[in-house]
Amino acid sequence: MSTVPNSIVILDFGSQYTRLIARRFRELGSFSVILPGNAPLERIMRENPKGVVLSGGPSSVYDEAAPQPDAALLSSDLPILGVCYGMQFLAHQAGGTVERVGKREYGKAELTQFSGDLFTGLEGEFVAWMSHSDSVTRLPTGYTVVASTLDTPVTAIENQQLKRYGVQFHPEVVHTPKGGQLLENFLAICQVERTWTAQHILDELIGNVKTQVGSGRVLLGISGGVDSSTLALLLAKAVGTQLTAVFVDHGLLRLGERQQVEKALRPLGVNLVCVDASERFLGALKGISDPEEKRKIIGREFIRVFEAEAGQYGPFEFLAQGTLYPDVIESAGGEGAANIKSHHNVGGLPDDLEFKLVEPFRTLFKDEVREIALLLGLPEDIRMRHPFPGPGLAIRILGEITPEKIAILQRVDDIFISSLREFGLYGSTSQALAVLTPIRSVGVMGDERTYSYTVALRAVTTADFMTAQFARLPYEFLEVVSSRIVNHVHEINRVVYDITSKPPATIEWE
Ligand code: XMP
Repeated sequence: MSTVPNSIVILDFGSQYTRLIARRFRELGSFSVILPGNAPLERIMRENPKGVVLSGGPSSVYDEAAPQPDAALLSSDLPILGVCYGMQFLAHQAGGTVERVGKREYGKAELTQFSGDLFTGLEGEFVAWMSHSDSVTRLPTGYTVVASTLDTPVTAIENQQLKRYGVQFHPEVVHTPKGGQLLENFLAICQVERTWTAQHILDELIGNVKTQVGSGRVLLGISGGVDSSTLALLLAKAVGTQLTAVFVDHGLLRLGERQQVEKALRPLGVNLVCVDASERFLGALKGISDPEEKRKIIGREFIRVFEAEAGQYGPFEFLAQGTLYPDVIESAGGEGAANIKSHHNVGGLPDDLEFKLVEPFRTLFKDEVREIALLLGLPEDIRMRHPFPGPGLAIRILGEITPEKIAILQRVDDIFISSLREFGLYGSTSQALAVLTPIRSVGVMGDERTYSYTVALRAVTTADFMTAQFARLPYEFLEVVSSRIVNHVHEINRVVYDITSKPPATIEWE
C-alpha cells in the first residue's frame, strides 16, 4: 500500500495565484495540495501536512463573509504561512490590527529591510510583487516585523515560537524573483521531505496502479495527446498486457498521426489496438455543417466504436483515464469537475458498463505528466504536443466535411506545424491550427487564373485556454509558410492569419 507523502496544504481563499503556490512547492520537490479555505482540520490532516499556507484572496478581514480557516488549525502546531489576505487574517485573528490605509499598493516594491526565518540566506535587494488594499498596522503579541517597504512598514511578520509567518507580497509569482528561496525556507521550517521528483512520482504511481489493479484487466482510450499516451506507457509498465489501449482513428486526425502513435507506443510495450473507423465517421457526418451537430455525431460514434472494441477485447474491470489535478482541485471556486467528467472523458461511456476508474494523474499538473513522459521514453513530438480537439479536423473544416477537404487540410496543417517546429516557434505557442474556409477567391498562378480555397492559420499563446492571445509570429515566418502552402497545396490560393484574441473569438473556429 502506498502512504500519503508529506505535503504542504494550501488553503484557498480565492487568489488567482493559489495554483501557482502549489506548483512552486512541487517544483521545489515538495508535494502540495489545494483545499478550500474552510476545510476542517480533520480533512487537512488526511493530506499528511507538514505545513499550511493560507492563500491570498479578494476579501478583507472585516468583510462580513470573510473566509476563515478552521479555528482548530490555528491552535495546532503546524507551521503556517499566510500570503497577502492570509497574512492579514493571521494578524487579525491573533489580535493585531488590519486597516485600509488609503491607496492600494500594486506592482513591484523593494524591501527596505528583511530578516528572520523566511529570509534565511537571502542577501542584496529583494523585489516583491504587491497587490493589496488592506495592511497590517499593529502587530499581535508575540509577532515581529521581519520585512518592510517604503509604503508598507509591515510587509512580513513572524512568530518564531508558534511557527506562524506572513508575507504581504506574493512570493509565488515571477515578479518576486527571490520568492522561490523564501518558499524553500518555509519548507525547511516545516521539515518537509523533498522527495517529489519525477522519478519518485513515477515509482509511486506504478506501485499504486499495481496495488489497485491487481490481476484485473484495464481498458484505456488513446487520443494521441500527451496525457493518454503517457498513461498508456505508465500502465504498460505497471500491468503489462493486462492493459488494452484503444486508439480510434475517426479519419479526422492530422497527417500520419495514427502511425506516429503506433510507432511511439508499441515498441515500449503498449498493447495497442488501432481501429480505422474513418468510413463510419465520414458516413455519419455526410451533409452536416452545423458545428454542434458535428460534435454530437462524433461523440456518439466514438462511444459506439469504443464500446464495440471493449466488447471484443474484454471483459475489462478497469477503465483508465488521464484526469489531471486541475480538474479535481477542491478550491474556493468550487469542487473539481472530476466526477462530472469521470466517465465522459473518453467520450461518455454509459454508466451501466460499471468500470472501476484508474486515474493515476489525478494529483499531477500537466508539466509533471510531461516530466514522467520523459522518463518513460515518450518521443519529444508527442510529449510537447499542443492540445488537439477530440472532434479533430471536423471542427476546422467550416461547413460540410468531405474526404477531399480533409486531405487538403491535413497537408496545410502539416506544413504549418512542421514549419513552426523548423523555425523554433512551436514551443513558444500554446496551440496552432489551420482552418479550411468555404471561401473561394480569384488568384493567379503562372499565367493561369485560379479560383480556390482560403485557409486561415491561427496560433495562440495561453496559460489556461480560457483566454488566449494571438501569437505574434514573425512576418518572415508567415511569408515562408504562406508560400509553402500555396506552392504545395494547389487547392489553396490564399492564406490569412487570424489576429483575434479570445475573448471575443474562441481558439477554434467552430
Ligand atoms: P475554444 O475554441 O473553445 O477552445 O477556445 C479551447 C480549447 O478547447 C479545445 N476544444 C475542444 N477539445 N473537444 C475537445 O476535446 C471539443 O469539442 C473542443 N472544442 C474546443 C480547443 O482545441 C482548445 O484547446
